[in-house]
Amino acid sequence: MKLLIKNIQSLIQVEETPRKWVAGADMKHLPTIDNAFLLIENERIVAFGKMDDCPVKADQTIDATGKIVMPTWCDSHTHLVYHGSREGEFEDRINGLSYEEITERGGGIHNSAKNLQNATEDELYEQAYARLQEIKGYGTGAVEIKSGYGLTLESEIKMLRVVRRLRENTNMTIKATFLGAHAIPLLYKDNREGYIDLLIDEMLPKIAEEGLADYCDVFCEKGFFTAEETDRILKAGWKYGLRPKVHANELYFSGGVQVGVANNALSVDHLECTSFAEIKALHGSETMATILPSTAFFLGLEYAPARKMIEAGLPVALASDYNPGSTPSGRMSFVLSLACLKMKMTPEEAINAVTINGAYAMGVGKELGTIAKGKFANVLITKKIPSLAFLPYSFGSDLIETVIIKGLIN
Ligand code: NIG
Ligand code: FE
Repeated sequence: MKLLIKNIQSLIQVEETPRKWVAGADMKHLPTIDNAFLLIENERIVAFGKMDDCPVKADQTIDATGKIVMPTWCDSHTHLVYHGSREGEFEDRINGLSYEEITERGGGIHNSAKNLQNATEDELYEQAYARLQEIKGYGTGAVEIKSGYGLTLESEIKMLRVVRRLRENTNMTIKATFLGAHAIPLLYKDNREGYIDLLIDEMLPKIAEEGLADYCDVFCEKGFFTAEETDRILKAGWKYGLRPKVHANELYFSGGVQVGVANNALSVDHLECTSFAEIKALHGSETMATILPSTAFFLGLEYAPARKMIEAGLPVALASDYNPGSTPSGRMSFVLSLACLKMKMTPEEAINAVTINGAYAMGVGKELGTIAKGKFANVLITKKIPSLAFLPYSFGSDLIETVIIKGLIN
């Protein structure tokens, strides 16, 4: 089956020679072909170029006159398996409570854990599947999903089995991350060592035995897990081949970036609190700096200093953090707008951050993230728009018209 997209106004993020990521000043460049075609055969991209060289025959043809075509988003950080919602806490915050005060009262992650523990696997699956479909419509073609609202052996496994089931029932690419170290459960309030032992001695072996996770994450934050505890858990995860991803420096300077880099994390995420020491630690590492601006927006935090990171030569990825507490939204086009408006990233930098760099941050860069021959045909077609910058500029508008995942029109 050959699918041809022709008369493309701009074909964005084309790649002839594979790159690992784009970093620093290179993030401003977005390789583009104007007046282009893209040819897809079955699940893969087989050719692209100028309209002058456009093949004449295909089984199906889409005319993309006045439209932009680019890779679908790689959302490398979500918690989209959860049960219920937390708009009550949203109101509490409007009335003056902080995110941490809500957690201390047994709300926050504990609230979602209680909900999830009481839900069946089928109920969880249904809600998560609906969210997956929703973000696919927004242009997301690959997504990383974390556990971490279980906080018991049984419920963490339940969450990760739901992720496996989602993967079996979609053509989107899904990576699973074990985040048992999301919070110390209330039952272990006075015995944090006991919970960390449970994580390391019981949860990790069971998850590895069932092959339920690709990565291991820790919420390294004051009031959650210390840098030393994070180090211990990440090292235990590595024993089962789970590469680290760390929730680092969201609320404080937690040491999470340094401990992530020291353990060769694939990414360290959040980074609202980032200074020279964190940037220095990341420099020259294999760890992606992943920023989640919707969280800063929703919780009213300082935004991560993206410009400083890029000017220091780092690669930066952007992700949604879709979760019921700090970001009840998986809309990546809003993430793009926030990146431009609040962190002064250029539209080109922001697009690089949600495509090639997002793909790296979830370990799918070889198959996704750019328009390259042989890669999966995960592409989106916009509505008729005047330019690329129009996307982040018109925040709140729905400008994605067609989403193609592995060659199939959504
Ligand atoms: O990435 N920070 C930790 N975890 C999530 C929020 C968890 C929650 O409030 O449910 C986050 O922001
Ligand atoms: Fe998160």
